[in-house]
Amino acid sequence: MNVLVVGGAGYIGSHTAKQLSRAGHTVTVLDNLSTGHEWAVKWGLLERVDLANQQQIERVLEAHNIEAVIHFAGSAYVGESMQKPAHYFNNNVTNSLNLLEAMHITGVRNIVFSSSCTTYGIPTQVPIAEDAPQNPISPYGESKFMVEKMLHWFHECHGIKWVALRYFNASGADPEGEIGEQHDPETHLIPLVIGAALGKRPPIQVFGTDYPTPNGTAIRDYIHVNDLASVHIKALEYLFNDGTPAAFNLGTGMGHSVLEVIKMVEKVSGKKVPHVLSNRRAGDPAILISNPNAAKTSLQWKPIFASLEIIVKTALEREYQSQESVLVN
Ligand SMILES: NC(=O)c1ccc[n+]([C@@H]2O[C@H](COP(=O)([O-])OP(=O)(O)OC[C@H]3O[C@@H](n4cnc5c(N)ncnc54)[C@H](O)[C@@H]3O)[C@@H](O)[C@H]2O)c1
Repeated sequence: MNVLVVGGAGYIGSHTAKQLSRAGHTVTVLDNLSTGHEWAVKWGLLERVDLANQQQIERVLEAHNIEAVIHFAGSAYVGESMQKPAHYFNNNVTNSLNLLEAMHITGVRNIVFSSSCTTYGIPTQVPIAEDAPQNPISPYGESKFMVEKMLHWFHECHGIKWVALRYFNASGADPEGEIGEQHDPETHLIPLVIGAALGKRPPIQVFGTDYPTPNGTAIRDYIHVNDLASVHIKALEYLFNDGTPAAFNLGTGMGHSVLEVIKMVEKVSGKKVPHVLSNRRAGDPAILISNPNAAKTSLQWKPIFASLEIIVKTALEREYQSQESVLVN
């Protein structure tokens, strides 16, 4: 299949491009490289295009005979979205609208979209299933929720079929070490903890030690980026087998606290992680854990790299490999 990976120069998109290519699909990456990296585009041609330019999107869809789109592109910092809501609605909503309209005009009928657990806001119960209320508490979460609604209407009105994947915490790196997570600024816990352990980043601030959790620190559901990548291929198969458009949660269904992550990085790296205990941050829920059963059943998918140890090991190995390549070059 000819697949357009929109945002394929980014963290999750590049890992998915690798798996798509390994599975025999032809990958084209559409990316403006605003937060992605040219070096991460190794499994397909890069079309350096901004989603703001609908005509260019149409050109790319036609030039590469695209049959399906996987849409990772967007701005992805919850905190930044509170400072710059217009940017988030523009880049995540308006630009996704351009993509959907370009698909409609060029007759591309299938899309898999990166949504987020932030669409649930503060959950009323955990684990969170897909039918839980969606009450986002940030422009970022709201922007993802709005795109989910647009997908619904583009299906109703134009027959575009969709799957929205609501990721919990993407983490880890390509076990072969070719690509990994490199956000700037980095806000995700595992790379920050690894950076602190290696002395490349400041001590970790542990926000909140009085949550109603066994050790008082917040609990999140970490899913390995390769498991995320594989589910996108399953989602494409689901759409091409006439699966009904739907949203699926993507997590492991297991939660790990901040202190557990710190301990795991210490175990795997053999180094102490300097950390400072601080007060809670506004808007951080105590526990976010997915109920991934719908994805497992409907998409016939199951996580393979589900343990926190594997997640940390792959992230750390990739970090060591990047250090080596800096030294060699
Ligand atoms: N990383 C997570 O834990 C997580 C969790 C939930 C949802 N998500 C969503 O998954 C998607 C991918 O996340 P990621 O961590 O790989 O992010 P990322 O920043 O690494 O990748 C996003 C990619 O989209 C590109 N992009 C952004 N705006 C664009 C535009 N206007 N035109 C063309 N390209 C554009 C960037 O250059 C980048 O390569 C995002 O939509 C994010 O909101 C991520």
